[in-house]
Amino acid sequence: MTEPFSAVELISIKRDRGVLSDSQIDWMIDAYVRGIVADEQMSAMAMAILLNGMQNTEISRWTDAMIKSGERLDFSALTRPTVDKHSTGGVGDMITLPLAPLVAACGAAVPQLSGRGLGHTGGTLDKLESIPGWQANLSNQQMLDVIIKVGAVICAAGPGLAPADKKLYALRDVTGTVPAIPLIASSIMSKKIAEGTSALVLDVKVGSGAFMKSMDQARLLAETMVEIGVNAGVKTRALLTNMDSPLGFAAGNALEVAQAVEVLSGGGPKDVVELTLALANEMLDLAGVKTKDPATALADGSALDVWHALITAQGGNSNAPLPRAKYQHQVVAQTSGYLTKLDALSIGNAAWVLGAGRTRKEDQVSSAAGVTWSHTLDMQVSKGETLFTLHTDEESRIDQAIVALRNATTISKSPSVEKYQLILDRIGA
Ligand code: URA
Repeated sequence: MTEPFSAVELISIKRDRGVLSDSQIDWMIDAYVRGIVADEQMSAMAMAILLNGMQNTEISRWTDAMIKSGERLDFSALTRPTVDKHSTGGVGDMITLPLAPLVAACGAAVPQLSGRGLGHTGGTLDKLESIPGWQANLSNQQMLDVIIKVGAVICAAGPGLAPADKKLYALRDVTGTVPAIPLIASSIMSKKIAEGTSALVLDVKVGSGAFMKSMDQARLLAETMVEIGVNAGVKTRALLTNMDSPLGFAAGNALEVAQAVEVLSGGGPKDVVELTLALANEMLDLAGVKTKDPATALADGSALDVWHALITAQGGNSNAPLPRAKYQHQVVAQTSGYLTKLDALSIGNAAWVLGAGRTRKEDQVSSAAGVTWSHTLDMQVSKGETLFTLHTDEESRIDQAIVALRNATTISKSPSVEKYQLILDRIGA
């Protein structure tokens, strides 16, 4: 087959800050999936996009071409409106676990395609796999069956969903081109649009433990994704939320599942409950349904009932004890005062080196490993009091985790002048 373009020609356009046409973008993605465009050529294109950016029309077309590389799921058999949530990832961010059953308990259907963790941020599937028997990989029919029965499903995206993104994401991962806003936005939105949800709430994290370190970057990413979603007919809204400090009191797979169950049982950390309820209200608003108030569904056990049904429908035993690490090590405060810094990135890195995260996609994670803490910002701490507990199956990892936590905290004579704000902004109609 004669190719209408050459990769070198299109890379040169982006290198020289030009604008790619619709047909050039369609060809680039399709030819990459067919193996006509080589990995080194797509790497050069990704780097040119990272350095020179893309116009919004190009980003929308790029997203569309990635969607067309695979199948689109069809939820038209459902009687309830569908709504999903996507977080750009953070430390202690287990919000999907209580949120999906909660939103289902309040009347919407939640088809939640989730991912695995890479580096210091955890992944929803890794967390749920710490529950004995629970299965992440479902066929499209199984996914539909679970959602019809339970109201929500949390599973891995199948190989047929946006295959161009799978290939491109693996390439970006090894070429330093992950942090390009057009590529992040099109990667996330191609999967969410192909998944077939009719509404989507994005939780764009900002701060030390997030992909996006500044509000400007996070706002641009959120606005870009909301525009892509709306142009594709998906009702899309974003919250910008703070990830300078971790959520809750745990980073690590089974440790976070335990915390999710506390939230679903009507308790749990205040910040996790606040964000879960805020996202649930946004999702139900976009879906145009609210058979129950989310705070009531946490208090009356109806969200917890959906959780048990969901875990059971996916082969898990939600009443089985969660794995516990072989070793626990306490890190204590060196001085007394007020905790004015609790750094998400340091804690995420510590959990990662203890075994909770992976360095390469094929690595196994430890279900039991991670970090727990008991102080929130501006709480008083006494010298010698435990700040962190390290959990690991391999004792030799503890020293490295202690190093990772060296700058995780600041203990000051007085509390912070400015109160830590969890929800920073909201983007979209
Ligand atoms: N998550 C994705 O799915 N894609 C990206 O590019 C970054 C985060």
